[in-house]
Amino acid sequence: MKYDLENINARFGIGSQKWQEMKNNPLVDEKVIPFSVADMEFKLAPEITEGLKKFIDDNILGYAGTNKKYRENVCKWQQKHHDFTVDEKWLVETHSVVNAFFTAVKAFTQKGDGVMLFTPVYYPMYKAIEINQRKLVEIPLINNGMTYDIDWDLFTKKAKAIDTKMLILCSPHNPCGRIWTREELTKISEICLANDILVVADEIHADLIMPGFKHVSYGTISKEALEHSIICTAPSKTFNLAGMQLSNVFIANENYRNLFKAEQATDADFACSILSYEACRLAYEYGEEWLTEVINIIDTNKKTIMDFMQEYFPQVKITQLQATYLLWLDFRAFNLTNEELEMRNRQKACLYFDEGYIFGKAGSGFERWNLACPTKYIYWALERLYQAYKEFAVK
Ligand SMILES: Cc1ncc(COP(=O)(O)O)c(C=O)c1O
Repeated sequence: MKYDLENINARFGIGSQKWQEMKNNPLVDEKVIPFSVADMEFKLAPEITEGLKKFIDDNILGYAGTNKKYRENVCKWQQKHHDFTVDEKWLVETHSVVNAFFTAVKAFTQKGDGVMLFTPVYYPMYKAIEINQRKLVEIPLINNGMTYDIDWDLFTKKAKAIDTKMLILCSPHNPCGRIWTREELTKISEICLANDILVVADEIHADLIMPGFKHVSYGTISKEALEHSIICTAPSKTFNLAGMQLSNVFIANENYRNLFKAEQATDADFACSILSYEACRLAYEYGEEWLTEVINIIDTNKKTIMDFMQEYFPQVKITQLQATYLLWLDFRAFNLTNEELEMRNRQKACLYFDEGYIFGKAGSGFERWNLACPTKYIYWALERLYQAYKEFAVK
């Protein structure tokens, strides 16, 4: 291994809410890390840290927009990793992907309009709809045991409703770890195009793909699909740069792009920072090798948990992880309430997951386990899990 992905920096005292949450539990020791909010415990790629240091040595941190090298690298990354040929002029930067889909909801829908979500799903998507007084149109995903599928009949029916105007598509899907296939995305696009529904594709997890799988960018489905979509990408999940707060949104349709920018301009300040651009440029230009090592560890962590559960707690069902570093575990067989599950995890096992119910009703009884950490923390966590749930163990 070229990179130090075995050691972490504890994040107490630097404003990391997920670390701070554990502070009051006297059982928390140096073997305990949080497995909640989706950032990584891995140290940054040295290509990024060293590059940023040099940048600060050589520059002042004034106001700045993007530069040519930045734009080229952002576009090249999409081409090389997702076969998505983008034009630089489609690119619009936002503070974050959440900011991008909030802006899209405001720019392209009116109060009372329906916005579809495949649920359970990343919780701020509900908020973007509700806080802007749009109507949530839920299309619950069908849990087929191993993974989740789209309920096509329901989707088609809801898409046809006169007031349904938008689909926010989480692709790959968080928390279900699902990659939507080309066939599925084509079907989604056909339904949306037939009903004049704009697709906002949140592809923030697109680079975190497990071995054997491939992400399909919504921008590669068809010219028509591309022209009727907003595609949100970012280096933040891929390279652990969430604190840099930057997203690259591709809007091929000039009219939509102008409307999106006009909505952005209603905010007092929507510019991104000079350091976020540089971090992103460094990541896309030099970060690939680091990412490959990180994905291998995530895959190892996933297998470690799956083997352990299969041996000791086979009644806990684990959704196939095709993408993301967020494992979705179904603890409903233990017959515990959400509160009991959360209390037992936190107080007895020092396990700080994201509770499934925050992703919607269908997440009740589930836990989302962030795997982006050195493998030793997974082993230690499994030992604690065993002790806390011993009465359910099959051996
Ligand atoms: C699907 C999805 N979109 C967006 C975000 C947040 O992205 P950002 O920090 O750029 O708003 C996350 C973070 O977990 C996510 O899972």
